[in-house]
Amino acid sequence: LGELSVHDVAVRGATRDPRRAMDIVGTAAHWVEFDLERPESSAGALDGIDRVFMISLPGDDDADKFAGPFIEAMRSAGVQHVVHLSAMGTPERPDFSLRKVELLIETSGIPFTHLRPNFFMQVHSTGSLCQAIRDARRIALPAADARLSFIDARDVAAVAARVLLDAPSHQNRSYTLTGPEAIDYHEVAAAITRAIGHDVQYLPIDDDTTRNVLRSAGFTDRHIERLLAMYRLVRMGACEPVSADAAQLLSRPANRFEQFAADHARCWQ
Ligand SMILES: NC(=O)c1ccc[n+]([C@@H]2O[C@H](COP(=O)([O-])OP(=O)(O)OC[C@H]3O[C@@H](n4cnc5c(N)ncnc54)[C@H](OP(=O)(O)O)[C@@H]3O)[C@@H](O)[C@H]2O)c1
Repeated sequence: LGELSVHDVAVRGATRDPRRAMDIVGTAAHWVEFDLERPESSAGALDGIDRVFMISLPGDDDADKFAGPFIEAMRSAGVQHVVHLSAMGTPERPDFSLRKVELLIETSGIPFTHLRPNFFMQVHSTGSLCQAIRDARRIALPAADARLSFIDARDVAAVAARVLLDAPSHQNRSYTLTGPEAIDYHEVAAAITRAIGHDVQYLPIDDDTTRNVLRSAGFTDRHIERLLAMYRLVRMGACEPVSADAAQLLSRPANRFEQFAADHARCWQ
């Protein structure tokens, strides 16, 4: 919304908590209450809307179950383009819920663009990973020495805005969004160390240790097994490829991890 607010377009934000969204984003966007788990909330969100940026239900094995009624609501409302936030590697994973959402969109007849980002850099500046870096100065993950081409979520937002503004030239296309380099977690820890001026260590852990850590943090068994499967792919190198799509769409290099770490230093202090 921040990216779009500088352009002369009318924007509506759809969120479960409009008051909170207004406090955080603080733009002049018109906010409406919307919840993918309450299909009846779609009509108000879509009324008069011609282009949609769609986030599927995050972290859910059944994202496609909740996406289906929303895609049907977009079709009924006459939406002319949907930009869908998917994930890197979906075509190789037919059972992945986000691939199922992609297929639902493709068969709906609504012109679409799939954005397929790698891991966001912001996974380190939010949630439990951020807390572990801040409190224990440690990143413990089952990633071995795998390299990942993390993307800055700010670049994902900038790409989404570009595509929405110029939708006809991106019709029925898919973009893989990565940063400009693939780095391992030792390099992640080193970049955060430089940003905050305190030593941060990377500790590679095995699946059983990961299970125990996540269980004591309150994660469900289903969520834990999904995360472990994801990190198995990471260790196989699935998140290492670097794509030029983000740089081409933004007409500038995508942000490096070093830049992200410098900009987010206060999150870990
Ligand atoms: N994080 C990553 O590294 C990464 C990488 C590649 C792809 N992705 C994909 O990108 C998507 C977003 O991931 P994320 O990590 O950004 O997720 P997130 O931070 O957990 O949530 C993103 C947004 O989803 C909205 N949301 C959650 N439940 C909703 C519901 N029931 N109805 C409507 N909106 C709901 C929330 O908006 P409100 O709170 O405003 O309602 C929230 O701000 C997911 O599909 C994920 O698989 C993530």
